[in-house]
Amino acid sequence: MNASPAFEFSRSSLQPVPAQRACRIALLGFGTVGRSVATILQGGSFPQLRLDMIYNRRVDRKRVPWVSPQVRWTDDLEEVLASDADVVLELAGGLEPAYSWVKRALLLGKSVVTANKKLIAAHGPELLDLARQQGCRLEFGAAVAGGVPVLCGVSPGLSGDRLLKLCGILNGTCNYILHAMESRGVTLDAALREAQQRGYAEADPSDDVDGLDARAKLAILVRTGFHLQADPQQIATQSIWPVQPADFRYARELGCTIRQVARAELKAGTLLAEVAPTVVSAGSPLGSARNNQNVLVTTGKYGGETVFAGAGAGGAPTAVAVVSDLLAVAESRAAANCGPALVAVPVSNDFRCRHYVRVTPAQTTDAVAALRRTLTSGGISLRGLLHHPDPHDRRPSLALVVEECSTHALEKALTQVQEAGLLAEPAVRMPMVTTS
Ligand SMILES: NC(=O)c1ccc[n+]([C@@H]2O[C@H](COP(=O)([O-])OP(=O)(O)OC[C@H]3O[C@@H](n4cnc5c(N)ncnc54)[C@H](OP(=O)(O)O)[C@@H]3O)[C@@H](O)[C@H]2O)c1
Repeated sequence: MNASPAFEFSRSSLQPVPAQRACRIALLGFGTVGRSVATILQGGSFPQLRLDMIYNRRVDRKRVPWVSPQVRWTDDLEEVLASDADVVLELAGGLEPAYSWVKRALLLGKSVVTANKKLIAAHGPELLDLARQQGCRLEFGAAVAGGVPVLCGVSPGLSGDRLLKLCGILNGTCNYILHAMESRGVTLDAALREAQQRGYAEADPSDDVDGLDARAKLAILVRTGFHLQADPQQIATQSIWPVQPADFRYARELGCTIRQVARAELKAGTLLAEVAPTVVSAGSPLGSARNNQNVLVTTGKYGGETVFAGAGAGGAPTAVAVVSDLLAVAESRAAANCGPALVAVPVSNDFRCRHYVRVTPAQTTDAVAALRRTLTSGGISLRGLLHHPDPHDRRPSLALVVEECSTHALEKALTQVQEAGLLAEPAVRMPMVTTS
């Protein structure tokens, strides 16, 4: 909000009001996060924030006795928009109708706080521009890494540095699954079922498992940290589905483990970015992430590596991030999201790095020799080869550690190997990433 130190501006009345007046909040979506935010707001710790209205479809089934009788419950969005709420708090999720609600609220001059990564990844720049034009605020600190304050940590927190790399575990569901596979040797299917039973994974987990959720969060981080406009759809994703217990056995021999990693780096005017199952050192911040934790490691030109870690999801940790945004809006503190204008940039996943490749040769040892020859003629050198067949494996596999090379060159060589009939199953390739 544009405000003098002594006043904040009530958008709906367009009258300056004393800064000590409580900021009126209309909450849209009384689900996991919405309930947790209401609990904090009802707790009395923040008298500057006043929950005025709760909107949800078929709202009667949502009413709870612990919410003050002064709060209005409604399932009529027009009532919300016509109210004198200063802030619309969008916690319903998804692209529509959330996009229309947020746009309409901003057009009415109401500030908006949201935890909706899908919405911000797809429409963030447009909605931020609209908020600026309307002289109000759009905050979304909980949209990436839930309760871990990575967005404000990156900007304004690290805006005095020049960020070179972002590398993180941004999806708690995948981390839960991969950590269960690592620590208990279970299959991905079994780990996923367990995550679903514990409420950590949706009935349809494809957004998480296929990397789309982490990709949306990476696109938001790239905007905040690099001030670049990256279309999430241009960021390459690899599913964690092909990861097997054998990969953890091989990774362990290398002193490593496997995590779903989202990373981005600027190289010669191109943004390198991808989300993929990745081999990481077991003792590194990424390799040490347990259960549904989130981690972000940033690398700055001047400050080197900084690590953010904590609960990436869950009602209460996410609600804390939401309430922090509400306080920032109410107190008209410096916005985390008012950096320089965004610059569009081409996106590629052609990182140069070491790779882990698990192959299942078609038949004979000749296949391994022919595979080596194809890789070498593609300019790809092997650093090592691990071969420890497990009696439970349907077909014996071996793992190759490939020296640092272009990701695209390796993908091309592996396609040739596959097309030459040397492999019984498609090769499983994972980048190997080092952070300190
Ligand atoms: N949960 C987390 O740990 C977490 C972490 C970080 C960010 N987030 C984000 O926070 C947001 C909320 O997540 P959540 O986990 O709280 O979701 P949730 O439990 O599914 O709650 C969403 C609430 O919004 C209501 N709603 C959804 N669509 C609606 C519509 N079209 N009209 C009216 N009401 C509607 C739902 O009502 P019904 O009960 O009728 O479906 C439900 O009460 C999402 O953007 C999510 O990505 C969540």
